[in-house]
Amino acid sequence: MCDCERYSPVCSCNSKQKRAVCSNLKASLEPGTMTRTAAWLCGLLLGFVWVVPTVVMSTPAELCKSMNTLKASLNLINRRQYMKHNFPINYTIRVHYEEVFRVHNISRLRARVQGLEARELQNLWLLVNQQVLKRILRVLPERHPSHKYTSDLENLFRMVQQVFQQVFQQQQLGPQGEEREPPERIQEILDRMSDPDVKVWKWKSVRPKALLDNCYRTMHCLFQDCFQSNEDFCSILHWRKGNKRLPKQA
Ligand SMILES: *[C@@H]1O[C@H](CO)[C@@H](O)[C@H](O)[C@H]1NC(C)=O
Ligand SMILES: *[C@@H]1O[C@H](CO)[C@@H](O)[C@H](O)[C@H]1NC(C)=O
Repeated sequence: MCDCERYSPVCSCNSKQKRAVCSNLKASLEPGTMTRTAAWLCGLLLGFVWVVPTVVMSTPAELCKSMNTLKASLNLINRRQYMKHNFPINYTIRVHYEEVFRVHNISRLRARVQGLEARELQNLWLLVNQQVLKRILRVLPERHPSHKYTSDLENLFRMVQQVFQQVFQQQQLGPQGEEREPPERIQEILDRMSDPDVKVWKWKSVRPKALLDNCYRTMHCLFQDCFQSNEDFCSILHWRKGNKRLPKQA
């Protein structure tokens, strides 16, 4: 049994960090005896030490690893080559309104939906972009020079989705172990995306590179903590053309 446990049963000393907190506390309490208040304080401190890292690191490490693979694959050189140069000039793809998911959409949803959780937006992002990749693949013959890239990206997304589901499987459950329903507004978007009545769909013609640019930017905004940087990737200004600070990334 470690010192800490002798002072309070709340403290289970299984990490160096906790032990440090406890020994500091112990030092401050010696030579007197531990009071009830001090025991409570110890528990509170440990709770704090325990909670803080999970708040700061909201995207689990496994997921961040996948996101960084995705980021590498979506780099500007690839997006330009495979989504622009390999296509005729000004070529556009018809997509569903909902498939145009930009940084602006995220700010709007965050402003309008109360209690919106990061993973609900991340989940929407995954679904939208898988749909986008399907639309691009649909116009590409198998021997088109962009086919392999797009199809590899699609596989990568499928892998990311699997990791996403695994890491959030447990957290998806509410306090009583029930599934949390997505907010109404998110559900509406999901419903519209999968509406079988094609006649009600609204279409938009978008250049393939613009679709992947959206994907790349919104990825940075929604998984910001995976990409170590002090930049605010959710700011539209950050991605504006002529932003001299990051011309090569955008
Ligand atoms: C492509 O679009 C731009 C503006 O969006 C236009 O200025 C240009 O003439 C178009 N090029 C062709 C070949 O249609
Ligand atoms: C994003 O906003 C545009 C309008 O600016 C809208 O048409 C589209 O459906 C939105 N996308 C999502 C996924 O909400």
